[in-house]
Amino acid sequence: MSPESSGPALALPVLDEELAARLRARLVEVEEALSGHIQSEAAFVTEAARHLMDAGGKRFRPLLVLLAAETGPNAASDEVIHAACVVELTHLASLYHDDVMDEADLRRGADSANARWDNHVAILTGDWLFSKSSELTADLGPDAVRIQAHTFSRLVEGQILETVPPASPEVALEHHLRVVAGKTGSLIATSALYGARFAGAPREIEDALAAYGEIVGAAFQISDDILDIASESDESGKTPGTDLREGVPTLPVLLVRRAGRPEDARLISLLDGDLSSDEALAEALVLLRAHPAMAEARAYVVARAQEAKDLLKVLAEGPVRDALEAFADVVATRTA
Ligand code: FPP
Ligand code: MG
Repeated sequence: MSPESSGPALALPVLDEELAARLRARLVEVEEALSGHIQSEAAFVTEAARHLMDAGGKRFRPLLVLLAAETGPNAASDEVIHAACVVELTHLASLYHDDVMDEADLRRGADSANARWDNHVAILTGDWLFSKSSELTADLGPDAVRIQAHTFSRLVEGQILETVPPASPEVALEHHLRVVAGKTGSLIATSALYGARFAGAPREIEDALAAYGEIVGAAFQISDDILDIASESDESGKTPGTDLREGVPTLPVLLVRRAGRPEDARLISLLDGDLSSDEALAEALVLLRAHPAMAEARAYVVARAQEAKDLLKVLAEGPVRDALEAFADVVATRTA
């Protein structure tokens, strides 16, 4: 079979060929369903909503829904596909808003919606996508609506908390981890929970997978923040250094500040200063990349991935558990 006919490439290594083929086929179903869901009667709305969807993306969240569903007897149910669309549309909606907040001009290797059109279009398209995801959630019943509403309030709270300083420098790290758990852990936890729930997995497995998703989500965000500093090019489809330029606190920067080494005076003054010039940003990136805080942040992510994998002991040994372990590993060591 050619790679095209076997479906999209999976964003994680799945050694079991049968499981991999099943996941690829289900992802094709998700893609088709997503494409239908973002069809508006207004052609421009469809165009704006399609923009980032068509630009690509790893589809990590729907993949996690599909993989978590493999732990239950009804992995092939329509509700699982529906749930996968709910999480991807919520995620996509949040990206439109996030790029406005971050003034980002590149996303998934394409112009961000705010750069391609303007902030109004980006914000309203995010709202529209979120309303689509809410409509789909309603089809999944009141429990799903409650879970989605709670997830969404955590996501927005995380994003808001990121814009306010911690109560004191001593709690900066704790504050940051709360932000990360809210803005990213929440939706990835729900992805795993939805998969287990709509495939009819037992409660014990549902709880373990939700906890696993929460930790994997935090690790995913921190890896993303490390990549914002470490990647030399826009291979991630985003502009490196965006967080630094926008003054968004991330784990490596917080670790530099906590270490407070005298030799970091130049780096800290750059971080505290204006990074709008390309020269200043480049200098900060060079100093940061060489700083031991980067290895410390990577070690933190690897430790969290291990914590997540430990939660999988409730699952029977086999290809699904192996793939969920690989998922945690990929998140911890991702390079794009
Ligand atoms: C990416 O963060 C952003 C998020 C994980 C969530 C952002 C959530 C909102 C903006 C609220 C959305 C509200 C509605 C109504 C949809 P990042 O900037 O750290 O990651 P990046 O590197 O991918 O930009
Ligand atoms: Mg951003």
